[in-house]
Amino acid sequence: MEIIVVPNPDAVGEFAAHRISTLIEQKPDAVLGVATGSSPVPTYEALERTVRDGLDVSRVNAFALDEYVGLREGHPQSYAEVVRRDVTERLGLDPDRVHVPSGHADDVPAACVDYERQIREAGGVDLQILGIGSNGHIGFNEPSSSLSGRTRVKTLTPKTRADNARFFDDDLSQVPTHCITQGIGTILDAGVALLVATGESKADAVAAMAEGPVGAFCPATALQWHRRAVVVVDEAAASRLKNREYYDFVRDNRPEWQL
Ligand code: F6R
Repeated sequence: MEIIVVPNPDAVGEFAAHRISTLIEQKPDAVLGVATGSSPVPTYEALERTVRDGLDVSRVNAFALDEYVGLREGHPQSYAEVVRRDVTERLGLDPDRVHVPSGHADDVPAACVDYERQIREAGGVDLQILGIGSNGHIGFNEPSSSLSGRTRVKTLTPKTRADNARFFDDDLSQVPTHCITQGIGTILDAGVALLVATGESKADAVAAMAEGPVGAFCPATALQWHRRAVVVVDEAAASRLKNREYYDFVRDNRPEWQL
């Protein structure tokens, strides 16, 4: 796991966006895995600037990580809508190339299986953008999730529902109890896993993910098994890392030829 500590959320966004735009330059029809929530917003903002400066994203494909189950179609906090606003429209992606699991399908389990098929048929995810929950979830793979699971329905923990109530007028009763999420197994299949985290509220989860033992109680620890996991964090989110000096040394002594 490569751990890059930068001063603030904007620098996290700049760093992550540079990795993503470099991939798109090399592979214009790249398949991105996109996260929602607040963590990747500075990344999407920085990427938007690169697109304005001429990066061609017309052939880029995107697959969302997860979706709530039970919100009406078009609900402003459904991830279909968040992805449309924060990713598709902001970056100017082709909407036909952007996919979000269907949280209101008649047969939700079948929609999960179909989502895995769509990812496979697109050739797999080249780079998966991830945030991390304060309880160590990635996607909505909550503590105790299978570390080899695929896209499926999960029950959100009270902690995640409380954390996300801010998107629902601070009204916990409006936060769905269930979701569809790519599994850890799906996420581990991505060519690169690029996790961004900012703020002190993520410091414990980041330390557990990077330096704790691998286990289902912090599902993000599964990224220790990923061949190309890149973790970009600001000072606050990095504040409980024990091995910080080493990470900074690696960052500052990166060979020129290494992406
Ligand atoms: C979002 C997702 C979640 C979030 C995590 C952090 O698609 O899968 O894992 O990345 O809950 O959310 P924020 O960034 O809002 O703190």
